[in-house]
Order: sequence, then C-alpha cells, then structure tokens
Amino acid sequence: MDKLLIDGSPPLTGEVKISGAKNAVLPILAATLLGSSTSTISNVPHLNDVTTTMSLLARMGCTITMGDNMVVDVDPTTINDYTAAYELVRTMRASILVLGPLVARYGQAEVSLPGGCAIGARPVNLHIEGLRAMGADISIDGGYIRARAGRLQGTRIAFDMVTVTGTENLLMAAALAKGETVFENAAREPEVVDLANYLIAMGAKIEGAGTSTIHVQGVDQLMGTDYSVVPDRIETGTYLVGACVTRGKIKVRDTVPEILTSVLDKLREAGAHITTGEDWIELDMKGQRPKSVSISTAPYPDFPTDMQAQFCVLNALADGTAKVTENVFENRFMHISELQRMGADMTVDGNSVTIRGVERLKGAPVMATDLRASASLILAAFMADGQTEVGRVYHIDRGYERIEEKFHMLGAEIQRVPDR
Ligand code: EPU
Repeated sequence: MDKLLIDGSPPLTGEVKISGAKNAVLPILAATLLGSSTSTISNVPHLNDVTTTMSLLARMGCTITMGDNMVVDVDPTTINDYTAAYELVRTMRASILVLGPLVARYGQAEVSLPGGCAIGARPVNLHIEGLRAMGADISIDGGYIRARAGRLQGTRIAFDMVTVTGTENLLMAAALAKGETVFENAAREPEVVDLANYLIAMGAKIEGAGTSTIHVQGVDQLMGTDYSVVPDRIETGTYLVGACVTRGKIKVRDTVPEILTSVLDKLREAGAHITTGEDWIELDMKGQRPKSVSISTAPYPDFPTDMQAQFCVLNALADGTAKVTENVFENRFMHISELQRMGADMTVDGNSVTIRGVERLKGAPVMATDLRASASLILAAFMADGQTEVGRVYHIDRGYERIEEKFHMLGAEIQRVPDR
C-alpha cells in the first residue's frame, strides 16, 4: 500500500482539469444493466470505485471493453449471474446500485447488504421498501438481499429522508416498470440529474429530475447509448479549498460552476475572489489568509457533506472562529482527531465542531478512514511545518484521480511512496 509524503507548500498556482464525477459514474455504470444493447460511457474517472464497479458487472457476465481515455463499453446482454458478492460490496457501498436495475430488467438479484461503514450506519431500508412498493418480493438472508419480481409496477414513493443512491436505485427500477412512478422528497443532487439524463438518452421517460418530485413513465425497453459523465463537483471544491488555504490563485477547468453554488458562496465569504465561465472557475486569494466560515451540511442544493472535511481544514487555518455542523451522516468527524494531532484547535460537541483558526499546523503521520477525510488531511499538510505522512491512500484512490499529480502540478510538495 502507498502513502503520501507532503511538505509545507507554497501558494497553489496554475490550472487543473477536473475528472468525471465518481458519484455520477457509479450509478450510470449500474444503469447500463437496464439496456438491451451496449452503452459507451466517456469522461469516466480512473478510480478504484470505478474498477470495483466494472469488476462487479464483469462477474455478472457483462462484456466490458476499456477504450482509450477511459471510454468504457458495457454490453449487458451477456449477463448470466445476478449476484453482487460480499467481497466486492464490502469495499464499496455503492454496489447496492445494481439492485434496482437487476430487479427491473431481469426480475432477480442477490446483493450483499453493505453493512456499516466508517461514516455511519448507512442503512438501505429505503431502497428495499421502494422496490417492495413496486411489487418486488425481497428477503434478507445470510447477509444478502434476495429479490424476485415479475414486471415492476409504477407507484407513488415518498421518501422519509433524502437519499441519493436510494433515489437513483428506484429511478432506474421505475424506468422499466409498468405505468407511472412518482417520487416525492427525491434527492436533487446533480449526480441524480446526470443519471436521469443518461436514462432519458436510453429511452426513459423522466420529468422533474433535479427537483424533489420526479415523474417516471415506465417503458418496455431501454437501449444502450453514448454518454459523457458530468464533472466532479467535489473534486472541484477540494482543489478550490487547497488554493484558498494556501492563499494561492488557481483556475479549475472542465467543471460546472452552477452545481457548486453553495460551495462558491462560502469560499467568497472566506475572502476568495471568484470568477467563473461556462466550464471553469478561477479562485484568487490575493495572498490573504481566509476568514472563518460557519457551515451546516444538508442535501443539495445546500452545503454538501462531501465538502465538510475540507472546510474544517479551511477553518482550522482561517482568521476567526467558526462552527461546522454535520447533518447528513452521524459519524463523519474522523478527520477531527487527526487534524488536532496536527495542531488544529477544534472542539467537538455532538454533530458540531467549533474551530478556532491558527496560522500554521504541524506535520505529523496521519491516516483517515474515509475518502473526504483523507483529502482534508492533504490540504492541512500544505499549511503545516515539517512533513506530513498520509497513510491508507487507498481511501483517496477510491475517489480522486491522480490527486498527487494534480496537486504537484499546482506547485504542492507532494509525492507518493510505497508504505512498507
Ligand atoms: N439513509 C437511511 N436509509 C436509507 C438510505 C439512506 O437511513 O435507505 C440515511 C443515511 O444513513 C444517511 C442519509 O440517509 O444518514 C443520507 O444518505 P444517502 O443515502 O443520501 O447517502 P448515499 O446515497 O449512501 C451518497 C454519496 C455519498 C454522499 C451522500 C450524501 C454515492 C455513491 N455516495 O451516499 O458520497 O456523501 O450521498 O450526499 O453517491 C463520497 O463521495 O465521499 C460519499 C460518501
């Protein structure tokens, strides 16, 4: 396994290109199962979670061809096994996304229960209840969700709470169900919209994606199609925070400014000068230290939980005191104790943390237990005296493409070395 060695870095400067969104490509790859012919997916990021998803589809018998530049062809018609085995699901919770497509298209699925994970219990009860409401017969047995169904029936599904992959799983199922499905309190995340756009390109009839009420008229068949994945807003936000904390100036290319509104508003509040074009964002701190900004996470369009750890680092180094509140997951503060070891002044109280900014942090060996927490430790290391070693890099490789190369290109002192 590798680790990252990071030294205090100069202000980040230059340009960085953003990859396709992890949380869009995973449901889109799962949705290829719904097609009656091959789909060609482009702007696919080279991530461990993408490799896991492709392994999952290949194990089921799908024919997968990787072209140049991470263009992926998936032919689902060769499928002969409807199982998502524990050893793959346990490495990636998003494997649950194959459940809806398998039940809707093939009338059967065996998907390992994801179980707990580092950022909280994260049950999948809403996915299961929704499929049952559409007529699937589902039992939980030996750690597996076993589902059987004839053709699913459209129905009304009102989610008790906003769930991103829950909305996606049921949206995929509804696309091939008989009749109309209406979702209320649906997730409005841009990744849900990207999935809906792919399904529409396959022939699905979906209206209202991006709002909390989605109407789906089920169709008899969906055809494979070509589709390019939306850019990653969380990767974008992570590079912008990197420039903000190091008091630098960067231009982020191949991104979508309008899906980052809540994050850009907070960066402006922190003192960043931000300009945007159709597919780029430029952030300039004009050499100034950021100011503290309080944040409170909530489903889109509010502030994303996936940017909470990065903003903890921003506040750890900012001028002033801020409160960061996590409302989406019950246990997403694992980065706090690592940041405290680097000298951050943070006090946790339930789901909030009060952060008093300091001028500099101190390098230390650290490790993180989830993807965004790991990314936040890299950002902290840029403003630390001495060297920081970030262990368990596989968390970062799940969701950030070539992170050390991209930060290195912006001037950061970061290198990947084998961890023996
Ligand atoms: N929840 C339930 N029951 C369910 C489903 C969800 O109680 O059946 C709860 C969860 O426990 C959580 C809340 O609802 O407290 C929201 O969870 P959600 O289902 O929205 O999360 P998710 O779909 O499992 C996706 C992203 C996460 C991101 C969240 C929130 C993917 C593959 N994952 O997870 O991404 O944090 O939405 O926006 O899309 C990441 O990229 O680092 C990451 C963790």
